[in-house]
Amino acid sequence: MRRTDATRPATGAGGPERSGNLRALTFLGRPRLDPDPGLDRLPRFSVSATEDLVEGGLDEAKSAPDRARLALAEALSASQPVTSRDRFAGRFDLLEALIAAVEQQRAHVVVYGERGIGKTSIIHMFAEAAREARYVVLYGSCGVAATFDDMFRSFAAQLPLLYHAGISPTTEEAEHRRTFADLLGDSPVDARRLAELFGQVVGTRVIVVLDEYDRVADINFRREVAELIKNLSDRAARVQVVLTGVASNLEELIGFTPSIRRNIVGLPVGPMSEAEMREILAKAERATGLSFPPEAADLIVTMAGGSPYMTRLLGLRSASRALDDARDTVSAADVIAGAESVLAEWNNGLPRRTQVLLRHPEVRSAWPMLIAAARASGTPDGWFTADDVAGEMGEGADAEAVGQQLDSYLGPIDLFDRSETTAGDFGREPRYRFRAQGVAQLLALSAALARAGR
Ligand SMILES: Nc1ncnc2c1ncn2[C@@H]1O[C@H](COP(=O)(O)OP(=O)(O)O)[C@@H](O)[C@H]1O
Ligand SMILES: [Mg+2]
Repeated sequence: MRRTDATRPATGAGGPERSGNLRALTFLGRPRLDPDPGLDRLPRFSVSATEDLVEGGLDEAKSAPDRARLALAEALSASQPVTSRDRFAGRFDLLEALIAAVEQQRAHVVVYGERGIGKTSIIHMFAEAAREARYVVLYGSCGVAATFDDMFRSFAAQLPLLYHAGISPTTEEAEHRRTFADLLGDSPVDARRLAELFGQVVGTRVIVVLDEYDRVADINFRREVAELIKNLSDRAARVQVVLTGVASNLEELIGFTPSIRRNIVGLPVGPMSEAEMREILAKAERATGLSFPPEAADLIVTMAGGSPYMTRLLGLRSASRALDDARDTVSAADVIAGAESVLAEWNNGLPRRTQVLLRHPEVRSAWPMLIAAARASGTPDGWFTADDVAGEMGEGADAEAVGQQLDSYLGPIDLFDRSETTAGDFGREPRYRFRAQGVAQLLALSAALARAGR
């Protein structure tokens, strides 16, 4: 193994027999073969990536806490969508509605909701169910730089030409490897051409998934997608579009396009129920052998406020603390400490001036109003009005006073952005948004922690 070579004392040219100075010169800019004593202290991975995880839970792993840690990271990772059924909790109604919209209504579907609420995970489960039913599912995650041409060419390239009405299934072997992309030509693909081509699909049904659609920056992309949906519907093609994105309503994602509105089913993804969040923890218990007794689970569920992301993050952090202590039961104190570590991390992730701002006495004294603003900012685009904040503050809160207070944070303490709404019958109304990303989440978690501490 290479490592043993490196730790073996160096011999030969440049070895110990040379004088110190000469040796130093000879080796300038070249790796030295003798062991570097600092090397042993450099952090390493504890478990090989090729090792299988323990299936039987923590018991077998007790001798190897690292394995438990890996199983935990696998069970509660908050940075990845769920892709396997045994990790997916709840969301039955949504999945059912999505399947019905596609299968019974033959509609195109827009799945929308906040970031981290579980859209991509639902889509993965949906795609698995659709593939089982012999649909061809083409999945694409949209990036800022996505173009209609790139995206749909790559979809077409995954669709075998065997499903084209013009190709007989008995054609030669060579034809079997060709795809719809071979028929697209060189000029940029547009919606009309694509709908024409997709209109030729026979022998299966195709679902095109455009995940993270809100990230698409190119206006032309959005225009073409709307046009494609319209054309596919007009032709009753066997291709359906399912798109997901961060939005508080359908229009934000697909615009006001009356001509396609009736062909689209909108499915909002809201907060999880308490039972669903508990199911996430229960699944993690089964996968790791760790346990979240009621006092710990209650705290996590309260603090997570319906977010599967927060449920996992708090679950992961608190359970790691238990593992640090060689315990297999997570305590309420682990949860609090875990939440505090998340809070500290989020705070460190904010721009330096925002961090300073949040410690400002004037800002501190308005904490309850700010926390209400954080709750009001729970819309996907983050905008809220003084009325929304007053509503969150409850009885006795005066929207006008709140508005003045919000305005006072626009000048030197520019915590918020302000703009005028155009919607509504009551003329223009100012609306506000936290300027730095992450401030609202931080305030909400700090409020949840304060509540939990009581
Ligand atoms: N039904 C679910 N069961 C378990 N964990 C979930 C579920 N839905 C979402 N999560 C977790 O929540 C986090 C955010 O989910 P994701 O699907 O990426 O949300 P979105 O696409 O809406 O941003 C991920 O860590 C994911 O594992
Ligand atoms: Mg997503």
